[in-house]
Amino acid sequence: MKTLLIVYHSMTDGTRQMAAAAADGAARDATVLVRLLRAVDAGAADLLGADGYLFATPENLAAMAGLMKDFFDRTYYAALDRLNGRPYAAMVCAGSDGSNAVRQLERIATGWRLKRVAETLIVCTHAQTPEQILATKRIDAAELARCDELGAALAAGLALGVF
Ligand SMILES: Cc1cc2nc3c(=O)[nH]c(=O)nc-3n(C[C@H](O)[C@H](O)[C@H](O)COP(=O)(O)O)c2cc1C
Repeated sequence: MKTLLIVYHSMTDGTRQMAAAAADGAARDATVLVRLLRAVDAGAADLLGADGYLFATPENLAAMAGLMKDFFDRTYYAALDRLNGRPYAAMVCAGSDGSNAVRQLERIATGWRLKRVAETLIVCTHAQTPEQILATKRIDAAELARCDELGAALAAGLALGVF
């Protein structure tokens, strides 16, 4: 059985909803084990024990969220050269941009020699004011459907061995 590891961080719940939707999509494939972990709970052993990955982070201060970066900082060298060629995809929850978080995530994945198998998905919450930014997010059904599809595609590719 193949394992898909989904690692995410979320402060105002948007990224968590995206990761949960992707996990739901992936879990429809009964031949793939889906592990959905918060970044603070994930470590190198989780990475080494998976066959493919989905990383999901908010963009904060034009960067990936600090606790997502902490996950990569804690695991990068323990996993280096041990994940080569495995497939991954990524998702970013952003107020208005998201591009720098995408760049950072993809650069780390390149360092690990992971293979990106889907376009990195950015969901924009259009939060602009401090009140909107600090409010709990509710991600649109249409956006959650995109996350669900990405999870399903990752699981299908893993199950079929096409990546
Ligand atoms: C401290 C802070 C900095 C932020 N900086 C950015 C930013 O640089 N670019 C952006 O598009 N959104 C930015 N945002 C908005 C968040 O990306 C947005 O609220 C998103 O929903 C956060 O995901 P979450 O709900 O999973 O925490 C920022 C939010 C916070 C709290």
